[in-house]
Amino acid sequence: MKLINYPVGSTFGLNDIPDSVTAVGFEVENHENVSEKTDGYVFRRELLREILNYLRAPNGDAFFLSGPTGSGKTSGVTETLARLNWPCQEITANGRFEFQQLVGQFKLVSRNPGDPPHMEYVYGMLPIAMKYGHVLLINEIDLIDPAEISGLNDIIEGSPLVIPENAGEVIHPHPMFRIIATGNSNGAGDNSGLYRGVMAQNIAFMDRFLISNVGYIGPEAEEEILSKSVKKMPKKLRTKLVEVANAIRKQFLGESGTGMDGQLAVTMSTRTLVRWAILAMDFRQHPTPLQYAMDLSLTNRAAPEEAEAIRQIASGILGDQWLGTRPKGG
Ligand SMILES: Nc1ncnc2c1ncn2[C@@H]1O[C@H](COP(=O)(O)OP(=O)(O)O)[C@@H](O)[C@H]1O
Ligand SMILES: [Mg+2]
Repeated sequence: MKLINYPVGSTFGLNDIPDSVTAVGFEVENHENVSEKTDGYVFRRELLREILNYLRAPNGDAFFLSGPTGSGKTSGVTETLARLNWPCQEITANGRFEFQQLVGQFKLVSRNPGDPPHMEYVYGMLPIAMKYGHVLLINEIDLIDPAEISGLNDIIEGSPLVIPENAGEVIHPHPMFRIIATGNSNGAGDNSGLYRGVMAQNIAFMDRFLISNVGYIGPEAEEEILSKSVKKMPKKLRTKLVEVANAIRKQFLGESGTGMDGQLAVTMSTRTLVRWAILAMDFRQHPTPLQYAMDLSLTNRAAPEEAEAIRQIASGILGDQWLGTRPKGG
């Protein structure tokens, strides 16, 4: 696979960045390990800069993105790699994770359907990523038992991988091999009490990571996401939908101060917000498109009293539009 330089501005939709600023990636397209691009994905400058900087020069480190759930850690990485055609080996860890899963194992395989099987060593994600220069992305890495993950220490520093079971095969790292991890903590354990199963990681392990703190997408970026995914919706209405989403989140987090706090067990993620907006436009001939779309995208999966609380929030912010004025446009 040939390497090429991509202009950062046009590749990531940040039009004020001159074309002289480039990021290296692969030329070939449609590789099976290159993630899908989401149209309208909004890149946050600072996060993008940090990811690109690490990809360009890892300097014997791995990269850790720390932040709350749904803040855009995983998609920030996969959407970046997708635009650079950089293949990615992605795994989401859990408490039962074992290092061996990353390395590989002997399996009974057969070449053609019906052929008698034979034993073959099947690579896990780590040797594949090392051999071909893919990014190894480990999500929720802080759920892993530190003893299981310490096998990565030398690999991060650039050592080859030795697979004793496979006749001592030695796999040297490709120059484009990178390791990126995400998690809700910063590796020091969970202080908030919000995240079950997070383990404090080994200091020697965390010492091998650059750490970036990823916060929730702000309302401005969220409006930009909407402006790209529902172009036809009037700007004023988009702003109100973002406002509704943030009011629901506040109540979910117990920060609304309305006396209704703590009653919601569902919340409105960016994903749900976008779905709500798209459906409201799709069903704009419906007598109450915003209500109908809200039911389909969120309230139908909430308990009846929660659905009612969410409707009240939306009605308070959207007023007449909630009651049926059709979203204009299109
Ligand atoms: N910058 C963004 N542009 C568009 N959608 C986003 C953006 N950030 C997050 N999202 C949406 O939020 C969802 C959750 O993001 P994700 O990367 O999975 O969060 P995390 O890994 O931090 O839990 C994504 O699937 C995507 O739909
Ligand atoms: Mg994630």
